[in-house]
Amino acid sequence: MGNNGQSDKHGKNDLNPWLLSTINSLLQKINPQILKYDGYYSSSKNYTQKKAGQSLHNLSRNKIIEIGGRKYQIKGCAGQGGFAQVFKAYVNSDPDDVVALKIQKPPFPWEFYMYRQLDMRISDKDRSSFGFAHRMHHYSDYSILVCDYLSHGTLQDAINSYVVVGALMEEVLCVYYTIEMLHILETLHAVGIIHGDFKPDNLLIRYARDDLTNGEKDFCERNGPWHDQGLCLVDWGRGIDLHLFPDDTVFMGDSRTSGFRCIEMQEKKPWKFQVDTYGLCVIAHMMLHGSYMEIEKKASSDRGYVYLPKASFKRYWNVDLWKSLFGRLLNLNPSEDHKKILRDLRVAFQDFICSNPPMMKKLKQLLLKQKASLCSS
Ligand SMILES: Nc1ncnc2c1ncn2[C@@H]1O[C@H](COP(=O)(O)OP(=O)(O)OP(=O)(O)O)[C@@H](O)[C@H]1O
Ligand SMILES: [Mg+2]
Repeated sequence: MGNNGQSDKHGKNDLNPWLLSTINSLLQKINPQILKYDGYYSSSKNYTQKKAGQSLHNLSRNKIIEIGGRKYQIKGCAGQGGFAQVFKAYVNSDPDDVVALKIQKPPFPWEFYMYRQLDMRISDKDRSSFGFAHRMHHYSDYSILVCDYLSHGTLQDAINSYVVVGALMEEVLCVYYTIEMLHILETLHAVGIIHGDFKPDNLLIRYARDDLTNGEKDFCERNGPWHDQGLCLVDWGRGIDLHLFPDDTVFMGDSRTSGFRCIEMQEKKPWKFQVDTYGLCVIAHMMLHGSYMEIEKKASSDRGYVYLPKASFKRYWNVDLWKSLFGRLLNLNPSEDHKKILRDLRVAFQDFICSNPPMMKKLKQLLLKQKASLCSS
């Protein structure tokens, strides 16, 4: 998260929501709230100072670290980013109590604030599509976020499993995960939250324990085993809480995430929900083509031009469906209600699967196969 030279006056149209100065001034304002959140533990000391001889550096397998009176046994590294390391750990060495520890240096309480906003705003029915944080330990040198651990890898892993063998993900799976992503953004944007880092490595895969049912109703309404199947959005470090800004706020500022900079960022124009909807298009493109999305302006009869992906669709795909997804989401009109567009697209994608029983059967088979091949680790 770097300073890209934008000013950070709240409510102005040149606001960069990710500047450290923006986040710090928001945190200062909401600190009294955060202190009261369930699971928030703050210490003015260094972790290393407090736990003499213990370090959060180079954590090796089976090492036990103590945080806030609990012992966590490290079982492996789940991921490593610029500022964070994520570990799988057993609480008090109990293999039935598995958590993800996200260790950040310097400390970064913003992500915990976002997790608590999700708890307050997302309905129980939809909550499993978003990661869950149990607690946050805030020291002066580190912060440690304790989250539910999901053991089935990310959507990026699923995409890679095709890329490494030179294959493409089956279209019906691309349709299914696109439905999941549309549902996630619809739910999130409706409660005034933007994720801001919508990438396939931030989408964990969820699998149902029970056999998936055939009923279209369960599928469309996300009931029964279909409720437990799908995706789970994590990594809220770039999350934006729109309730902290005036209604008409638009943002400037560049995510600098290669391959995921929305059109507005590329053209130095203000953006809002496009940061997420563009991410969705890139992910759909990665699933379909196995590569990042490149876009181009194409002439259109009514608007002069539209943005569309450069890569052409395979003839045997359901071209109309994908054309409407990319055509609509890459060309959002700021005055339109984009949540309705997300819903209409989701319904069209759902209908595609539900109107075709062999398609539903194939989807179930592919999800089972994926579970068997990706879940052995
Ligand atoms: N709850 C979890 N369960 C299982 N794996 C997880 C969990 N959270 C994160 N991971 C894995 O760890 C990786 C990194 O986590 P995350 O995306 O939260 O951090 P990051 O991208 O390193 O953070 P930052 O963007 O702040 O640098 C994820 O891509 C995923 O593979
Ligand atoms: Mg991440």
